[in-house]
Order: sequence, then structure tokens, then C-alpha cells
Amino acid sequence: MKNVWIIDFGSQYTQLITRKSRELGYSSEIMTLGDCFKKLGKGELPVAFILSGGPNSIFEDTTDYSKIFDLNLPLLGICYGMQLVSNHFDGVVERGMQGEYGHSKVHGVGGYSIPGVKTSFNTWMSHFDHVKVVPPGFTQILESDNGLIAGIENPAKKIMALQFHPEVEHTEHGKDILLHFFKDIAILTQTWSNEVMLENCRTEILEVRGSKVLCAFSGGVDSLVAATIAHEVLGDDLYCFFVDNGLLRPQDYHHIEVLKKETQLNIEVIDAKELFLSKLAGESEPEKKRKIIGGTFIEVFEQKVHEFEKDHQIKFEYLLQGTLYPDVIESVSPHKKGGKSVVIKSHHNVGGLPERMKLKLLEPLKFLFKDEVRVLGEAVNLKYEWVHRHPFPGPGIGIRILGEIFPESVRKVQESDQILFEELKEQNLYQACWQAFTVLLPVKTVGIKGDTRAYEEVMCIRIVNSTDGMTATWSHLPFEFLAKASARMTNEVAGITRVVYDITSKPPGTIEWE
Ligand code: XMP
Repeated sequence: MKNVWIIDFGSQYTQLITRKSRELGYSSEIMTLGDCFKKLGKGELPVAFILSGGPNSIFEDTTDYSKIFDLNLPLLGICYGMQLVSNHFDGVVERGMQGEYGHSKVHGVGGYSIPGVKTSFNTWMSHFDHVKVVPPGFTQILESDNGLIAGIENPAKKIMALQFHPEVEHTEHGKDILLHFFKDIAILTQTWSNEVMLENCRTEILEVRGSKVLCAFSGGVDSLVAATIAHEVLGDDLYCFFVDNGLLRPQDYHHIEVLKKETQLNIEVIDAKELFLSKLAGESEPEKKRKIIGGTFIEVFEQKVHEFEKDHQIKFEYLLQGTLYPDVIESVSPHKKGGKSVVIKSHHNVGGLPERMKLKLLEPLKFLFKDEVRVLGEAVNLKYEWVHRHPFPGPGIGIRILGEIFPESVRKVQESDQILFEELKEQNLYQACWQAFTVLLPVKTVGIKGDTRAYEEVMCIRIVNSTDGMTATWSHLPFEFLAKASARMTNEVAGITRVVYDITSKPPGTIEWE
């Protein structure tokens, strides 16, 4: 199926263009300029192009874009993309002396208005350079209140270009403007819907029917949705193994029990609590703890699978993973310019497993965003609370117990996390936040319990709001809620006398403490 190609020039909003286009029913994919040229070289074509914004200046860009423009396909240029359009078609782009960032009001020129859009509306701009003279054959359609050319159009060539970002929420009517491009200018047919999304996943899974497929099941939204759809297609050729590393919360154990009872999935729990805790003993350095947890996971999983294959005389060929689109898009991150990005934390899930076990990957969700996966989950009748669970990291509470992990510290975090979870549910606040958890701080402080002096550890409550985990703000939850959670923790969790609330956003603080 041909779709819209979004060429990523490094804007932080590029992913939003895909999401918005899909919400409008138009299928699209993000790619780098290099990948675009490769695909064109192989004879592949899109139905339309969108050239994204980006942090660079076209005055430093020597690329020849004829390969794209000569195709005469519909094209939308956004910000940097608009300057590329103007430059290519002999308009004049002026180098900006200072950037324009933030809100800017624009209005239609000469009575122009986009269907469904007010003649004057607020937009979100983020640019240095701007178009000074409209290219021949194009007309100016929008102007900003400070006199800049904010939009141009060439209906005969099916090209529209905008200086602002229609994909961000701050732009009023942003979706109507994108719809105008898809529907009226490019005249595309809608090819994306929830049904198509589900069908695509099923088709991908159908290709491996007849093979034995393994899933490192975590109970999280992605692995649950992937496994549910895979099970519909593969039946009992799908085997889900869940590794109990002893670093789970009570709600996770409960969730697995519920899924075992209420779904058709073939879930087997591997109890490796003791092994994980013994391997972690004596280690207090966060990165080393992560490596031990990741390494032990692979060891346990591999051993279990070998035994299983021997006992059942079968051979697994595929590993089913709930990988999502943000993990696979090869994008031009403005932060990665000129070198590798710095590893802040090594994320452990099942990295390295497929190569080691010589398994092929089955990733039916790899074109989807998290919210789309949730929609799919509901479409295959998974319960609302199962597909709207908070994310839970692979290393579990191992990275929420600072420093060395002792059985007693696991207990303290498990008990306090359960209290927090119960209170969030009770006070209807669970869905109001992205993640909420407790972190054990290995410092002792003085307090009084009953009539005696206590000298015990501190529990920290961390609750954040976020859309993708990349940035986050600490949640401003009601004091009454925090007071109740704190009172219950100090009363009910032995060894905790003091509770603190983390009021750090990300950046600079990461969401997890280790
Ligand atoms: P940080 O702490 O980096 O976390 O701000 C961002 C998001 O990622 C989650 N996280 C992980 N998820 N394996 C995972 O699957 C990991 O090793 C890992 N470390 C952090 C974290 O919970 C938050 O949602």
C-alpha cells in the first residue's frame, strides 16, 4: 500500500505529523532523506510528500531536491520544508537574524480562507529563515501579523507550504489545515482506520503461521496486545513465558493471575526470584544492577526455552515483541547532531535475545504509537484497565530501591507501592497520571512511632505526567491524597518513618531514580 512519506529534517514535532495524518485517515510513514532517496532509487513511490521542519538553515543545505520535486507528486512543506520549496522553485528565502519561536497570529491574504478555518488564527512557529519573495507560479495565502509570508500554494502543482507547524496542538485548526492538504490539494483517498491497523497486524502475523512463536511476556500493554492478536492468528503455537524476577509489584502478580484466568493466552510463569536476588547481592551501582537484571533475564529465559523445546520436541522460530514505532523510526534527532547520543540509562527489556537464540523477530506493532496500540487492544476486547496501565520498566523495582537490594527493601517498596496504587484507584486519580510509584531511599532518619524513637528509612512518592516519557512534569495532585498515602505508608509499612514527594520534572530529573 502506498502512503504519504514524511521526510524528517530533525524537527521535534515530526512524529506528530504522522499521528495527526493517521487520525485524519491518511496513512503515512517517517523517513530520513537518505532513506527516501534509497526508496526512490528502488522505484518505490509515495502518494504525497511532507517535508518536515528542522533546526538547520537551507543556506547550509547543498542537497539537490529535484529527485523529489521532479516527481510532480503532491507536497506539503512545513517550516524548513517551506523554505526548501521556495528555494527550489526560485523564490527568495531570507536568512533570519533571530529566531521566531512561539505563538504567532496569521490571517488569509486577499480574502483567502482554508475550509473550516477562521480567516485569522493562532499558530505555532519555530524558525530562523523565512520566505521573502513567493516563487513564480505560487500565490501567498497566509500572512503573519508581523508581515511575514506564512503560507503559499500552487494548486496546479498540488503544493502547499506553511511557515508554522499545523501538527502541534498550539496551532488553531491545525488538523483542518492538514485535512485541507490531504483532501483538497493532494486529493488522496483515506487508507488508514482502526480496522486497517488491525488487519495489517494480522497479515504480518499470518506470514509466520505454522511456526512456533515465543513471547517474553511482561503483562504490559504492548506485549499483551501483541500476544492477543498473535494468539487469534496462531492459536497455541504461541507460547508466553513470564519471568518473575522478584522485582515486581503486587499489582503485577495480580495482573498475571487475572490474565491467565481471563484470556486464552498460554502464559507460563518462571519463578526466578531467588536467582535474581542472589546475583544482585552486594551490587549498588545503578548501571551494573541494570546489566545484572538484563543478563539474568536472558539466562533464565534461554534455559527455560531450551528445556521446553527438549521436553516438547519443538523448535521456536520467532520471538514476538511489542516494539512500537518510536523505537524503530530512523529519525534525525537534533540532539544527536555530530555524534552519538549519550547513554543516560541502559534500557533492559529483551535486547540481545533474538540474536543469541537465533530467533527471527515478529513485531506486528512496529508501525504504531502507544495510543494506537491501546485502541487496538480495546478493538480485540481487552479490558480498559489492562490497556491503560502505567508503563513499568523492565528492571522493575530493582531501580526503585536505591543502592543495594535486600529482601527487606523489596518488601518495603512492594507494600508502599500497593498503598499508592490502591489510593490512586480509590480516589480516581490513576488515569490522571502517566506513572506513579514509590522509591526507597537508603537513608535513615529519626522519628517517633507510638511513644518510641524510630530510626528508619525514607520512602519517596514519584508521580509524573508525560505523553511519551521523554519529558515529564511532576504531578500536582491534591494534598489530601498525598496526606492519606503518606499516613498509610508510615502506619502500615514496617521500617518506614518518613515519606517525601518528588517535585522534580524531567529534565533535569529522569522519571526513575536509577
Ligand atoms: P527515565 O527514568 O529514563 O524513564 O526518565 C523514561 C521512561 O522509561 C521507563 N524506563 C524503562 N523502561 N526498561 C523499560 O522498559 C528500562 O530499563 C527502563 N528504564 C526506564 C521509565 O519507567 C519511564 O516510563
